[in-house]
Amino acid sequence: SEIKIITVDGPSGVGKGTLSQSLANHFGFHLLDSGAIYRVLALYLIQNDEQDALEDEIVQFAQAMDVCFGSKTQKVQVLLSKQDVSELIRAEHVGTLASKIAALPKVREQLLQKQIDFAKLPGLVADGRDMGTVVFPKAFAKLFIDASSEARALRRVNQLKERGLSFNYHTVLDDIIQRDIRDRTRTIAPLVPAEDALVIDTTSLRIDEVFKKALNFVEGKL
Ligand code: C5P
Repeated sequence: SEIKIITVDGPSGVGKGTLSQSLANHFGFHLLDSGAIYRVLALYLIQNDEQDALEDEIVQFAQAMDVCFGSKTQKVQVLLSKQDVSELIRAEHVGTLASKIAALPKVREQLLQKQIDFAKLPGLVADGRDMGTVVFPKAFAKLFIDASSEARALRRVNQLKERGLSFNYHTVLDDIIQRDIRDRTRTIAPLVPAEDALVIDTTSLRIDEVFKKALNFVEGKL
């Protein structure tokens, strides 16, 4: 039988991760957090003090890095050189470097196969920026999740608060806006909805409402 692929694209802080996890649980599908792949490469560069490396050098690091994705219970676990870096890759500065190296065509090309390899029976929920447009153009159900940058900044600040961290709302908003500009305007694999994607604006929706809309759409395609 055929591997069923659901793509979930959208900007950072929009709740794609939560939605993708819920969809994967619901259908019993595998999960790809493609942002984690860019983040782990960024972390690997930082650990080697190579954050200023040029494109071809970064490609070599991408080839050399020893990454492994596992799942411990609900959460996705990321191992770099056999060490659990699941938390480390979430740091702001890692995300910022990830977004910079993600604009480099050869780097994207190098990481493409790693992402395609996640497609396994019975199916996959792929979370990212270009899942429906570039990596899995033949996916049977494509979702594009969006929200105002203000709503996303507010959610992020609240998440950080829950973890006991305090961040200035305006700093977080600024970072989101900068990253959006980079992700949406880059020439290669820019963040845009696939033509056949359902766009869900979550600015004024609760998580369960987003899940319902997404589920309705996916089930209609099955
Ligand atoms: O989604 P997340 O914030 O973890 O992604 C980190 C960065 O990786 C994003 O800002 C984006 O620039 C890049 N990315 C990408 N394509 C993907 C996933 C992430 O360019 N499919």
